[in-house]
Amino acid sequence: MSESVKVEGPGEPFAAAIEVPGDKSLSHRSIILAAMAEGTSTVERLATGKDVQSTLDVVTTLGVEVDGERISSPGIDGWIEPGAPLDCGNSGTTMRLMAGALSGSPITATLIGDESLLRRPMRRLVAPLEALGATVELSDEGTAPVTITGATPPTACDIEIPMASAQVRTAFSLGAVRAGGESTITSPPGYRDHTERWLEAMGLGKKEEGNTFRIYPGAVPAYHYVIPGDPSSAAFLWASAAIIPGAQVVTPQISLNPGRIGFLQILEAMGATVGGQVTGAVLGDPVGTVSVQGNGLRGTEVSGALVAASLDELPLVAVVASYAEGITRVTEAAELRAKETNRIATTVGMINGLGGGARELDDGFEVLGIGWLEGGTVDAAGDHRIAMAGAVAATGATGPITIAGADAAWVSWPKFFEALEALWSSR
Ligand code: S3P
Repeated sequence: MSESVKVEGPGEPFAAAIEVPGDKSLSHRSIILAAMAEGTSTVERLATGKDVQSTLDVVTTLGVEVDGERISSPGIDGWIEPGAPLDCGNSGTTMRLMAGALSGSPITATLIGDESLLRRPMRRLVAPLEALGATVELSDEGTAPVTITGATPPTACDIEIPMASAQVRTAFSLGAVRAGGESTITSPPGYRDHTERWLEAMGLGKKEEGNTFRIYPGAVPAYHYVIPGDPSSAAFLWASAAIIPGAQVVTPQISLNPGRIGFLQILEAMGATVGGQVTGAVLGDPVGTVSVQGNGLRGTEVSGALVAASLDELPLVAVVASYAEGITRVTEAAELRAKETNRIATTVGMINGLGGGARELDDGFEVLGIGWLEGGTVDAAGDHRIAMAGAVAATGATGPITIAGADAAWVSWPKFFEALEALWSSR
């Protein structure tokens, strides 16, 4: 099914406080940790999108029972070997994190996904999980199906990876907690360290100098998780407010993990007024309220650790940059080509299709901000973040924007279009 949605911007400033759904990254992690633990865990405010449902479906096939907020598991040693491949749908996080958990399990399982996920790179899992003693089989292209045979127990080891990938760091850590001794993983900076904060709070690890995480072996405990709001969803509302001078949005109870707030730093550098207040934490991972107010915007440069800390929001950077004065340049972001779509191509195509000025770079893109977009059609191409960024582009556009394949948004935020409408109709 493919739905078209026509979006018309608000035309004037708005002001609202809006709660966004639970964080997707933390939802995946809570489900997988609950599945590894023996006993019953509970998860409040689990993300509502299809990606998180994929993780729930996968652990259910392994013998875990899910009943509303309750997740009951025999523990990883009681996982049932599946008779068929486990379908991760569109979710790269499900596939990579489950590969890690399976690497320390007593079973063999194959992970598959939809057409987009079957094209995404999985080779990055091989060295870390094989260092733990697991067997990892991929297609000749280095893609799924991914077949993992767990090591019982995994071999403790110290590894270094070349990319700031939270998914790979998490996959390794989930296998390494099952090893007979301490392991470490080191990478470049900028990654979201949710898993590492949570494992440390559970007594299963310790952050060290130089982006190293030390994993202590032990049993993952059953836990009562409360998931904060998703900053990668709130980012669509923040971007819309930033575009219109005088518009304002407040989002309470958002994950403020340092690896998730790069987009707020970018908005601030472009001239938006950004407020952030930490109000609490979940297992050592900060949560708080964020407010964004629109002002006149200017172009900016994004590279280095800021890329990892804003990776999923970079299509939105291109949208906001179109409403700024001057050039915005995003570099060292070639990883964008390996997302749900080639997001360098789909982002540049989106901006140019709406009358803006963008061009591809090998490792990023450049946007010439002229302060407005015309409107037109955006093909979501099955990518949730392009569908939603295209709708946000209508904020200040001179004409309406039609999103073809708008239902792609359901992967992370099924009620996104309603939330955007509520934001724009608030005064
Ligand atoms: C995620 C990490 C990021 C991010 C993805 C979710 C996670 O990917 O882009 O959407 O939950 O760990 P990488 O770790 O591959 O950079």
